[in-house]
Amino acid sequence: MALLAVRDLSIDIAGIKPLDGIGFAVDKGEILGIVGESGSGKSLTALTVMGLLPLIGGRVARGSIRFDGTELTTLPEPDFRRLRGRRIAFITQNPMTSLDPVMRVGAQIDQVSRLHLGLDAKAAQARSIALMERLRLPSAATVYHHYPHQLSGGMKQRIVIAMALAADPDLIIADEPTTALDVTIQAQIVQLLVELVRDRGVALILITHDMGVVAQACDRVVVLYAGRVAESHGVQAIFAAPRHPYTQALIRCIPRDGMAPGSLAGIPGSVPSVANYPAGCRFHPRCDRAGAPCAATVPPLEHLPSGAEVACHFAETREVANA
Ligand SMILES: Nc1ncnc2c1ncn2[C@@H]1O[C@H](COP(=O)(O)OP(=O)(O)OP(=O)(O)O)[C@@H](O)[C@H]1O
Ligand SMILES: [Mg+2]
Repeated sequence: MALLAVRDLSIDIAGIKPLDGIGFAVDKGEILGIVGESGSGKSLTALTVMGLLPLIGGRVARGSIRFDGTELTTLPEPDFRRLRGRRIAFITQNPMTSLDPVMRVGAQIDQVSRLHLGLDAKAAQARSIALMERLRLPSAATVYHHYPHQLSGGMKQRIVIAMALAADPDLIIADEPTTALDVTIQAQIVQLLVELVRDRGVALILITHDMGVVAQACDRVVVLYAGRVAESHGVQAIFAAPRHPYTQALIRCIPRDGMAPGSLAGIPGSVPSVANYPAGCRFHPRCDRAGAPCAATVPPLEHLPSGAEVACHFAETREVANA
């Protein structure tokens, strides 16, 4: 059984339904990508799994989130608090905001292992410095005493990753952890995150708008569009034979230097806002393959024998031999 299994998940925020029946699973030692343009529902998916929807006035309307045998959608908040940070760590979309500007970075990492693992000050410091070294922070023992403003963006990001790892979580959810950094640093940080989670057998959900990052880091990928799963498959297989026109467009649009994050130059238009989701397939107004059924009927998510899942009336569903 997967470490985390999300099934048929729909959420409601003040009467709007930004996620509609999404599902995915991730196992120990596995890296799952969640990819989609801005507004596709990636951050809300992370927030929902972390049990933080009530903070924005939302609730789970339907479906299940099982983590290591525990149903999270009905878990009382005090129990959830024991999981958060300890067993499931969250790296938010703007990680710089998770650092306290007036506290030395080392002490911020220490806090996590003192709180969740009950380490004393000395043990926590040793653990933090070892983690910082593992994250290839130069002069870790010195940087340990620095304040966030003394560090570069890439260094701060490594501190945030060290904080996520400090309690030895089973699952890390990283929401676009590198968008604030320049492209070369981004690739280095993603590479480090991948190495660390592989070393430790941690499960990672890596949220990104960039299929290039998926190709670099992930084992499987879920493509989200306007709050629904468009397609999901192993990364090698999806690059070899993308079946949904949206996945194909994302692959064509792997960003190069100078492209705005989240933009998809290859397809005109953008993800509709929740209030304006079109009937039928939500992608159909932007789709060059759309036909009569697309505006009328929601395409069901088909499960193909290869393990691919695709929701498109005109998907390429022939299973290619050895694909
Ligand atoms: N608190 C909220 N209340 C109402 N609607 C929201 C709320 N947060 C997000 N939404 C809407 O839900 C949809 C999905 O938002 P979400 O933030 O999950 O997108 P995302 O895929 O993370 O995008 P980005 O790449 O820009 O971070 C969007 O249409 C957004 O406007
Ligand atoms: Mg987001």
